[in-house]
Amino acid sequence: MSRHISRNQFLRYTASAGAASLLSSLESFALPSDEKQLRVAIIGCGSVSNRYIPHLQTSKLIRIVSLCDIKPDRAVEQNTKYKVKAKTYPNIEALLGGEPFDMMITLTDMQAHGMLNKKALEAGKNVWSEKPLANSYSEGKALVDLAKEKKLRIWGAPAVVNSPQFAFMSKSIQDGKLGILSSAHGQYGHTGPTWSAFFYEEGGGSMPDLGVYNIATLTGLLGPARAIMGMTSVVKPERKVDDKGTVKVVAEDNAHILMQHDKGVISHVMCGFNFFDPHGHEAGTQSLHSIQIFGDSGNLRLIGYDWETNGVVLDNSDTEPAKLYQKDSEGYVWQEGATKVGESLVKGIEPRINVEHALHVLEIMEATRKSQSTGQRIDLVSKFPWPMV
Ligand SMILES: NC(=O)c1ccc[n+]([C@@H]2O[C@H](COP(=O)([O-])OP(=O)(O)OC[C@H]3O[C@@H](n4cnc5c(N)ncnc54)[C@H](O)[C@@H]3O)[C@@H](O)[C@H]2O)c1
Repeated sequence: MSRHISRNQFLRYTASAGAASLLSSLESFALPSDEKQLRVAIIGCGSVSNRYIPHLQTSKLIRIVSLCDIKPDRAVEQNTKYKVKAKTYPNIEALLGGEPFDMMITLTDMQAHGMLNKKALEAGKNVWSEKPLANSYSEGKALVDLAKEKKLRIWGAPAVVNSPQFAFMSKSIQDGKLGILSSAHGQYGHTGPTWSAFFYEEGGGSMPDLGVYNIATLTGLLGPARAIMGMTSVVKPERKVDDKGTVKVVAEDNAHILMQHDKGVISHVMCGFNFFDPHGHEAGTQSLHSIQIFGDSGNLRLIGYDWETNGVVLDNSDTEPAKLYQKDSEGYVWQEGATKVGESLVKGIEPRINVEHALHVLEIMEATRKSQSTGQRIDLVSKFPWPMV
């Protein structure tokens, strides 16, 4: 590609080049050095945008050109608060018809993700979506198929596979340091969000909000799950939230997910909105482990949470005490996903995060609910490229 190709030429080039290499290589997407800035638009300017906007602003390769929220004051407020100097819009139609951009970042209520991501792809935009990618596996699969057809990219949170602690655990497993693997466990909970009702409404729940991290970590480490058994429940039938007052809890606020992987490995995730945790949403000082992996000659324990970890304990000696490794997160933060995939589009380098993995996690969450409602074990169809590290 010429170093002086125009932005329009670049976008046309990426559209045609994607046909051969979509979902495998981003090499042909690389921008020439004098045009290395991806224009992004953020839709949903609530709580999590306070983490995304500053992180995106740390990247020289990314420029936030638009902010959108159906509560338009929020877009305007974030624009001022973070000195973004973006255009602001009150809905996706106005956003897509306004300032041109290359990638949409979806940070809205979970229930709106699928619909918004579809509109963005249809309008020719790449997408990074907060979890979940869509409300159901079939809706998510249709998005990935649409992206392929349109020669675009879509990715979904979480970004847990990016942490050096994930890489350490994956390499330890792949190098046989745990011997023959058999079992693993993950847990993540707190006492539930207090600001928005959507977390408790149909399509919300503790699985897509919290369990999703551990499911991504455990499948990322152990490989795709082949079958699921699950139990979910509502422990607190009512919640008080800032935007709607007292609401009925419809989506599960308590979930246990049992996953069967290859070679007889079984893992388990428990998540919920009723877990006392004195650390709340801050994990920096958390010293307990949230992920455990057991083999016949070694065990791993991830300290803190998989989205903000403080190291990994490897215990694989009969004579030496267990050792803490990889305390340093080397710049990894959980809110980095959009920045990293955006930069990968600019550089033409495939990111570690891949959409098939997000789709697999979505299928697991749906299967857990199906297992709860039918009492059955549910076989899965989706896979993703593995091992990831
Ligand atoms: N808050 C966190 O710390 C956090 C952390 C990680 C991930 N997430 C995820 O981020 C997403 C958003 O969570 P949040 O806590 O920021 O919620 P929030 O309620 O604070 O913000 C959501 C915003 O989206 C807007 N919105 C809803 N529908 C819209 C639409 N159709 N078009 C434009 N704007 C729309 C709302 O008006 C609101 O301002 C969820 O998927 C959540 O799971 C949140």
